[in-house]
Amino acid sequence: MKKVDTNQWYYSDKVKEHFFKPKNFIVREPKKGEFDAEGQVGNLMCGDIMKMWIKVAPKTEKIKALKWRTWGCATAIASTSVFSVMVTEKGGMKLEDALKITPNEIAARLGGMPPRKFHCSVLAHLAFRDAVKNYREKI
Ligand code: FES
Repeated sequence: MKKVDTNQWYYSDKVKEHFFKPKNFIVREPKKGEFDAEGQVGNLMCGDIMKMWIKVAPKTEKIKALKWRTWGCATAIASTSVFSVMVTEKGGMKLEDALKITPNEIAARLGGMPPRKFHCSVLAHLAFRDAVKNYREKI
């Protein structure tokens, strides 16, 4: 088998950083009541799945925590990791503001990604929308 030279990756250093050390990744199943809502989405292009959990401050609707788990590729992992940082840094974004984050903005924060991997960044975007929908149904 031919050895892969990872120095030849077409990924930015940011993608590699978030892929090798994903932020807010959760392996275990969350405990009941640990989060306020959850979302899940599948990617029709590749069959990968993303699950996401959010904790929201009720009065301000700021995102206090966002955890995620995926059966997805390196780009999906890096995209969701950086998205989780974007929405929770600086005290957390309001749900309405976080809903406005586009896959393009996620890709830009990662320093770009190969065009054919762009659909992978959509997983974070859509799983978050599903989690917010679930949150709104509960309150
Ligand atoms: Fe499926 Fe990237 S190839 S999410």
